Amino acid sequence: QKRKFDTLIEMHEKAATLYQHVLLKTKVGEPALDYLYQRGLTDEQIEHFGIGFAPTENSLLRRVFENDGYSEEMLAASGLMSQRDNGEFFDRFFGRIMFPIRNNQGKLVAFSGRLFDQYLLDQKKSPKYLNSPETEIFNKRQVLYNFHEARKVGRKENELVLFEGFMDVIAAYNAGIKNGVASMGTSLTSEQINTLQRTVSQVLVCYDGDNAGKEASFRAMNVINDHSALDISLVLLPERMDPDEFIQKYGPERFVNLLKNHRESPFTFKLEYYKQNKNLDNELDRLEYLETMVRELLSVNSVIEREVYIKQLADDFDVSVEAIQAEIQKGLTNQA
Ligand code: UTP
Ligand code: MN
Ligand code: MN
Ligand code: MN
Ligand code: MN
Repeated sequence: QKRKFDTLIEMHEKAATLYQHVLLKTKVGEPALDYLYQRGLTDEQIEHFGIGFAPTENSLLRRVFENDGYSEEMLAASGLMSQRDNGEFFDRFFGRIMFPIRNNQGKLVAFSGRLFDQYLLDQKKSPKYLNSPETEIFNKRQVLYNFHEARKVGRKENELVLFEGFMDVIAAYNAGIKNGVASMGTSLTSEQINTLQRTVSQVLVCYDGDNAGKEASFRAMNVINDHSALDISLVLLPERMDPDEFIQKYGPERFVNLLKNHRESPFTFKLEYYKQNKNLDNELDRLEYLETMVRELLSVNSVIEREVYIKQLADDFDVSVEAIQAEIQKGLTNQA
């Protein structure tokens, strides 16, 4: 008798094989495959990430599972089935492009399914990405998408790159950035940060260039700071693009260059971040902003780093280094 855990993993492996077969080898999968090709994915990427398609017919997986003799208890426990009021099972995922989710040990524990039919997306009746529910084998707070693969390169480079979406991880992989991970559409958890910290000492945050992404970068930076000693740098994408869109538009070389040569420190990120919604020609806004930045400077522990930032702020604002130092001194006296 196999353990329940292993059986649930086995069911996920069977589902992934089936979904990929449907995507690559059947007529039903063609629109989904076209969509992926249109987005610039290659066969190699599709293979590597195990991407598949769950057909619109919503009893395919159920019939396979029943045929293989899985009990109703297992069908329910898998998170791969939904149940009607009369108890009848049907596939949770249908009409979606399927991304297998592996846990940090590399076991297949969940899926995320993307709707690609624009009509259905416009109706907004169903989310763009539907994830597996939490099950005995899937804990959302623990899992980082692609961590199992990324850790190898991450160890070597002592850095992991944190993206917002799976598609960014997948696009970055094609650009040669193989140490990318993503959280499961939720904000970064302390469990995920622990996982990062056990593997590397640096994290590069590369979220979407829109406002939501900027806010998420700010929160991620703070929560990483609060829960770890990890060194953080950030990349801001221009023109509200996400990494995937940036790579499609400007190509992989420019993306690699951006990640290598255009990183921001948490402080320079904040320098920009706090400028939002402020009119710095206005005296009051200017003062408020400078006060905020002085407060930020107070929490920079390294004296050398602080010196650098003071200079940056002074240059940026056309005030003297001495004036900022005096403000900081005041702040330190108040703290004591
Ligand atoms: P995005 O909307 O930025 O997704 O959400 P994306 O990666 O750019 O996807 P594409 O390019 O449109 O295919 C970022 C992440 O938020 C989660 C997913 O994990 C996604 O990767 N998300 C988003 C959901 O869980 N559900 C949703 O409906 C949307
Ligand atoms: Mn986004
Ligand atoms: Mn995005
Ligand atoms: Mn995207
Ligand atoms: Mn440059």
